[in-house]
Amino acid sequence: MLAWTTNPEAPGGLALRDVPEPVPSPDEVLVRVEAFAPNPGDLAALTGAAAGSVPGWDGSGIVIEPAADGHGPRAGDRVLFLGLAARGWAQRRVVPLAMTAAAPADASPERLATLPVPATSALRAVRRLGSLLGRRVLVVGATSAVGRFAVQLAARSGAHVVAVARDEHRHAELRALGAAETHATPASVTRRVHGAIDMIGGPHLVDAYALLERGGTVIALGHAAGADEHFPYGAFVADPSTSDRSITSFFLGTEPELDTEMALLGADPSLDVGPLDVRSWTALATWITDGARRDAGRVVFRVDQEHADRPTGA
Ligand SMILES: NC(=O)c1ccc[n+]([C@@H]2O[C@H](COP(=O)([O-])OP(=O)(O)OC[C@H]3O[C@@H](n4cnc5c(N)ncnc54)[C@H](OP(=O)(O)O)[C@@H]3O)[C@@H](O)[C@H]2O)c1
Repeated sequence: MLAWTTNPEAPGGLALRDVPEPVPSPDEVLVRVEAFAPNPGDLAALTGAAAGSVPGWDGSGIVIEPAADGHGPRAGDRVLFLGLAARGWAQRRVVPLAMTAAAPADASPERLATLPVPATSALRAVRRLGSLLGRRVLVVGATSAVGRFAVQLAARSGAHVVAVARDEHRHAELRALGAAETHATPASVTRRVHGAIDMIGGPHLVDAYALLERGGTVIALGHAAGADEHFPYGAFVADPSTSDRSITSFFLGTEPELDTEMALLGADPSLDVGPLDVRSWTALATWITDGARRDAGRVVFRVDQEHADRPTGA
């Protein structure tokens, strides 16, 4: 079968090559991959990946071979999956049962491919903030893939969602997703919040923490700014209105019940995944070389099973 493999000499650091067919363990399913949507983490993981390895975490596909232990989706089921051990940018892959969920047969594979990492991260983060009915929740980096889902899921939970995104042209989109307030930076938010989910880090994380009410938590989910966090003196000096505030780190791979969460999200047609920019998977390396831009929406690669025109230089 064909798979993208890491190759430091190739454009984008990837080459489309013949590789051996994957062999599932008893608790894994063998999937014919239909689509995948690279995450920032996928791209970051390319640096330092062993030469010749197959990158790619999550996506969607059809089960070829169910798990030998008799559990989980059956042959022919459409599934979405999270494969944090990579091996996903391939025509076929194996995925642990605990990271695979059956989806409706008529669900769009491209849509499903956008859900695993971003939507389950948003769901787990919203859950961590506890009961949100009538509470103010700050989402920093609200136009990011995770952020768009966090806005929707927090709003559905009854929160007053305060969405922060630097691109003010997209604030109307965030209001349509359920945000009650929109801001370009957390610094312009004036009222305290019960909790925050931060995809950006750096000064945004510092400002989000300063906005917490007593007992509030910031979930430092992402670090897209790549910037240091410097807390001014006094940030952790509490008074009766600011005691017991916290910042917590987050790693999706250690969150429980991801198969259940993916089944829930995959079966929900009302979840807005935003515009999709669907491309042939043969264009993956070129997209990465060109800066992995998402100008026309979330970039989804559709995997061709029959053949693949090898890109120049691969
Ligand atoms: N801990 C975990 O398990 C986990 C799980 C999932 C994701 N993450 C992390 O969460 C973050 C978001 O992931 P994603 O897939 O949602 O990313 P994404 O869709 O690529 O979005 C990244 C966002 O960051 C914004 N941004 C980048 N630099 C910024 C800056 N200096 N100031 C303000 N905004 C900035 C971008 O704004 P523009 O649109 O304006 O460019 C964009 O909205 C990433 O860091 C990712 O690695 C972590």
